[in-house]
Amino acid sequence: TPRVFSGIQPSGGLTLGNYLGAIKRFVDMQGAAFETIYCMVDLHAITVWQDPADLTRNTRELCAGFIAAGIDPTQSILINQSQVPEHAQLAWIFNCVARMGWMGRMTQWKDKAGKNAEAASLGLFAYPALMAADILIYHATHVPVGEDQKQHLELTRDIATKFNHDYGVDFFPITEPVIEGAATRVMSLRDGSKKMSKSDPSDMSRINMTDDADAIAKKIRKAKTDPEPLPDTLKGLDDRPEARNLVNIYAALADMSAEQVIADHAGQQFGQFKPALVDLAVEKLAPISTEMARLMDDPAEIDRILAAGALRAREITAPILRKTYDIVGMVPPP
Ligand code: TYM
Repeated sequence: TPRVFSGIQPSGGLTLGNYLGAIKRFVDMQGAAFETIYCMVDLHAITVWQDPADLTRNTRELCAGFIAAGIDPTQSILINQSQVPEHAQLAWIFNCVARMGWMGRMTQWKDKAGKNAEAASLGLFAYPALMAADILIYHATHVPVGEDQKQHLELTRDIATKFNHDYGVDFFPITEPVIEGAATRVMSLRDGSKKMSKSDPSDMSRINMTDDADAIAKKIRKAKTDPEPLPDTLKGLDDRPEARNLVNIYAALADMSAEQVIADHAGQQFGQFKPALVDLAVEKLAPISTEMARLMDDPAEIDRILAAGALRAREITAPILRKTYDIVGMVPPP
C-alpha cells in the first residue's frame, strides 16, 4: 500500500487554514487505500525560538487536535518528530546532498528570514532538508499539504533524485504532493491577499481551532467582504478575493465544490451568506474544539499515544536509515 506522510508545526495554535488545508484531508486519506503517518514537527518549530513550556503544550495540543478532528491513532501512526531520531539523522545526510543555492531560492526562507538573513538560524535555512528527511525516512509516496508547501515538496524530489544519482541507486522514491480540494490556500479574514496564519498579529484574521461558537460567529460576521451579492458563476469571483475565500471555506467545510456553493447561493448578499457560513462553521468546528479541550485534560494519555506511535514508526525508520548509511559507506555498527 502507498504510504502517506505529512507534518504540522507545533509553533502556536491550529488555524482553520491548517484544518481545511491539511488535517481534514489527512482524515480523508485514512483507510484501506493508504498507510498514513502524521507528525508534529517540533524540530521544525524551534528553527525560530519557542518558549519551552509553550512548545510542550503546543505539541500536546496539536496531538489533541489531530485526534479530535478524526485521526485514529490505531489506524494512523501519530508521532512527535523528536521522538523518532531517524528524522534528524537522515536530515544530516540530506544537508550534505542539498545545495546552498536550492535552499536560498525557497520563498518561505526569504519571507521568514526577511532582510536580516545574517541573524536567522542555520536551522531555518536547512529547514527543507529536514522536511525531505521526514518524508523520505518512510519512503512515503504521497504528501497532503496546503499550497504554501509546494516548493518544499519540489525540493524533496530534487533531494531524492540527487541522492539516487550521486550514489547510483534507486532508493528514495519521488514523492507526489497532494494539494487538492476547495481550501488549499485559506486566506486571512481581514485581507484576501494574505494567507490565514497563526503568526498574523490580528486574531480577527483567523479562526483558531480552539475558538468557541461566539468567537467563530464574530470573526465571520466581521470578515472583510465587498458590497456585491454572490455571482452565479465562479468566474464572477475572480477579482473578489475575500468573497472567493468565504466561498472556498464554505465548500471545504461542507465537502462540496466551490461551483456547487455558488450554484446554491447565487444572488445572495453577505448579510444572508455569512450567517449560513457561521452555522456551518460552528456545526463542524465546535465539536472539535470541545473534544480537544477534553483530551487536553489528560496529557499523560496524549504522551502514551505519542510513545506508542514512535515505537511503530521506528520499525519503519530504523531499517531505512541503516540502509541509507550502508549506501553512503558508513561502517556498520557492531
Ligand atoms: P505548517 O505547520 O505551516 O502548516 C501545516 C499544514 O497546514 C497547511 N496550511 C494551510 N493550508 C491552507 N490554507 C492556509 N492558510 C494554511 N496554512 C497552513 C500547510 O500547507 C501544511 O500542510 N513545513 C511544514 C511542516 C512539515 C511537513 C513535513 C509537511 C514538516 N515536515 C513533511 C509535510 C511533510 C509546515 O511548516 O507546515
